[in-house]
This record gives sequence, C-alpha cells and structure tokens, in this order.
Amino acid sequence: MTPAQWSRDWYDRAGVRGGPRRRLGDELAAGQLFFPPPLIPYGDHPLVRALPEPRRAEVFARHLFQYLGFTAQFETRVVNRATERIAGGRSGIDVSIPVRLDAYRIYCDEGYHSLYSLDVIDQISTASGISPTPYDFEPFLNRLDQVGEQALPGEPELAPLLQVVVFEMLITAILNDVPKDPRVLTVVRDIVADHARDEGWHHAFFARFFRELWAQQPTARRGRVARCLPGLIRSSLLPDLRPVRASLAAAGLAPAVVAEVVRDAYPQDRVNTGIRTAARHAVRLFEESGVLAVPGGRDAFETAELV
Ligand SMILES: [Fe+2]
Ligand SMILES: [Fe+2]
Repeated sequence: MTPAQWSRDWYDRAGVRGGPRRRLGDELAAGQLFFPPPLIPYGDHPLVRALPEPRRAEVFARHLFQYLGFTAQFETRVVNRATERIAGGRSGIDVSIPVRLDAYRIYCDEGYHSLYSLDVIDQISTASGISPTPYDFEPFLNRLDQVGEQALPGEPELAPLLQVVVFEMLITAILNDVPKDPRVLTVVRDIVADHARDEGWHHAFFARFFRELWAQQPTARRGRVARCLPGLIRSSLLPDLRPVRASLAAAGLAPAVVAEVVRDAYPQDRVNTGIRTAARHAVRLFEESGVLAVPGGRDAFETAELV
C-alpha cells in the first residue's frame, strides 16, 4: 500500500475513525486472564507463584494497568509532542503538506490510543475492584529527555523527533502476541489488536520521515546523531522497574523479596536481548539510511550491543 493510499484509507480504516468502543463483557467471572503470562517477566517467578490466588491475579491486573497507563501517557506526552511539531511544520525538517497531514492523522490516532487505554483500565478496575497503583510518568520522561539533551546539546528539537522514530519503529511482543492469546480478556486483546493495526501504518510513516530527516542533516551533525542513537534506543527501552516493585510490594511481598524477584526476572543479558529484538527494525532502518557508515557510527551501535 502506498503512502497516498494509506492517507486516503485512513478516514475509513483508522481506529479513531471507524472502530467500535471496546467493552468488557462478563469474562471476569469466567477466569479470563488480564495479560498473557509469558509477557510478564516476573509472572512465573516461584515467589510470585507462591502468592495466594487473589493476590496473584491482582499482580497480573496491575501489570495490564501499568502497560495501559504507560501507553496513555506516552502517546500524548512523547509521541504527540513530536508529531505535533511535524504536523505544524515546526520540526526543523522540511516536509510536504501531505506529510504534515499524515502527521495530524497520527496525532488523532495517538490521542485515541490514550483514550481507550484509560477507558479499559477504568472498565476493568471498576468491574474487578482491583485499583491500579498510582503511576508517575515524570521520572521516565525526564530520563528520556536527559539522554537527548546530553547526546545532542544545542539541538533541542532533534532529540524528541529521534525518540519518536525509535519508539514508532519498535517491534513489541505485546502488540504482536496479546491478541493471539485466547486466555486473555477479549477487551484487552481487541484494543491491542486495534492499536497494532494503526501502528503498522505509523511505522511506515516514521521510517520515511527518518530518511527525510537524515537526508537534511549537515555532515557534521550526522556523526553526532549516529553516535547518540544507540543511547537513545537503550534508554527508551530499559524496563521501568519502579511500578513493578510497587505492584509486588502491594501484593504483600517484603522489600528484600521484591528485590530478589526483580533481580531474577530482569537479568542484564535478558534485558539486552529484549532491547536488541525490539529495536531490530529501527536498527535496520538506520543501517540502510547510512547511519552506521558515518565515523564512529558502527562502533556506537556495537558497543551498545545493538548489532
Ligand atoms: Fe499508538
Ligand atoms: Fe504510533
């Protein structure tokens, strides 16, 4: 499908245009799961399995709430922060009107993804009586922005664009695998499938946008961009463990036990493999665009274990 076809079809095919509001049916009583167990790194830990049943189900529910709560914040505060600049013609990259129109379409999509993420948290927490643990997005956002500021000082408009390219190119097991797990609540599988459909198109848009961005960078800045991308990828993909710790503590685990579970569930090599896998399309795009060919480019990606 060409970009022009996508832009035309968006009015019929985008979730925000034609998709139904997804509702929680009466599946909670039937014992449907909140989230696929293989996608919860600590879900199978013996100390989590040993929790009494209601506590364990609550941990799984909070994992779902955490994922959706993060998504709700991320779409509007990170993705749309940059997308709005592209759409408004203020990104520092010269783009055509059709590209700006597509950016406004994506802006609508992402706002809608935030809306239904919070809607489903609300529906499930109301029906189940399990409340989400409060989540402060600020520390994650600050860390992300600090990496950009350090890597590209004096270019405040560039790092947010690169963050979004990295994120929108990610291959997440969640988008691919949640809809396939028949044990999971239909409302959850439905919104993740809805989201994945929109993101397939975003992925193509941001790949094209990055090629344009790269083509417009002066040679001197290309080196800096190339050397900062691996750090940006890593900092973006490092798991946020604060809410995991809070959830495990809320289930009644003592601090030392929480620390043990987190240590076992997120070993460095598994975290690195996860980052490499999720970033593989982004890295391929950067490689094809010539990012790794500038001086120091390949070294930076190799040091970060991304190639
Ligand atoms: Fe999205
Ligand atoms: Fe997106």
